[in-house]
Amino acid sequence: MAFLPIIVAPDPRLKLTCEPVAEVTEELRKLMADMLDTMYDAPGIGLAAPQIGVTQRIIVVDVTKNDDERMPYQMVNPEITWHSDEVLDYEEGCLSLPEQYAQVKRPDKIRVKYLDPDGQAQEIEASGILATCIQHEMDHLDGVLFVDHISKLRRDLILRKLKKYKAQLPPEKVETHG
Ligand code: NI
Repeated sequence: MAFLPIIVAPDPRLKLTCEPVAEVTEELRKLMADMLDTMYDAPGIGLAAPQIGVTQRIIVVDVTKNDDERMPYQMVNPEITWHSDEVLDYEEGCLSLPEQYAQVKRPDKIRVKYLDPDGQAQEIEASGILATCIQHEMDHLDGVLFVDHISKLRRDLILRKLKKYKAQLPPEKVETHG
């Protein structure tokens, strides 16, 4: 078990487009397990590889609330194959934007295909908060943050606050969520 430092915005590493994974290796399985540990510890409901400085198309998600009903998804090369026209307007946050929240509209239902940690192809249908969370994490793989979905005015305000927040962290804490 390892906890990985989470990169806080604004940071150019959060704006990169991630590479598809060619093969799900033992090393990647370990990385995904560490990502889940890091996410639960934060605590958060999703984490994407670029948030821990890995520019590969990997996300982990678990929107359950209690330890005894965990339902983690570990997705390699996720792709949305279908989405509903109905949207859900949900207040989003992000481990890379600590204590910042904004309403974001996204499709309410999606179908997503991906490789699981065994390298097997999977496809699931998700709705509600799970669909929101998967789309939010997938955005990270293309360098998109939830604040990129809101007005420039509000985005700049949030990023300015985060810059200030980072400036007052001790140097060894700059990459963590505090
Ligand atoms: Ni995020």
